Amino acid sequence: MHKQARVESEQLTITDWVKDLAAICNYTRNLIFKNDVFECMTICWEIGQFSRIHNHRDQNCWMSAPIGRLRVQNFRVEQREAGHGTCRIVPTDIYEMDAAHPAYVNPLEPVHQVLNLPEFNERAVSIHVYSKPFDTCEIYLRDKGTYCDAPLHYASEYGKLNPAEKLL
Ligand SMILES: [Fe+2]
Repeated sequence: MHKQARVESEQLTITDWVKDLAAICNYTRNLIFKNDVFECMTICWEIGQFSRIHNHRDQNCWMSAPIGRLRVQNFRVEQREAGHGTCRIVPTDIYEMDAAHPAYVNPLEPVHQVLNLPEFNERAVSIHVYSKPFDTCEIYLRDKGTYCDAPLHYASEYGKLNPAEKLL
């Protein structure tokens, strides 16, 4: 059910709403292997979790979703003003990933968002290979017409939970 409809029908408290918003952002990134050439990680997606709109620092990315299903929305960047940190992003291609349909990030149009849509009604696990590894990316705030650098964190590395990570 659409979140707005849920809020109205179930009268969620503000606390519930904030928790829901946090869940959208806090998908877990789990490092499996990393060297100077590539890194491999799994990302776990609760139902309704979306990534931010981001790039991959001009690095290649191959990905698949062996569990569940994920929607990928690509964007074209226009009117980029590095001095002001502003740009306009325009939605372009949409595709879906699942166990039978791996994908890659188009180097010519590398800005995208990954979504485990509520209507998929299933948790998802994706596998990503990045070459070369990167530890920050640009995130794009479509409504504000801005973009900025953001650090990337791992929830776990080589099977060990990051001490700062809290399991819900
Ligand atoms: Fe990505």
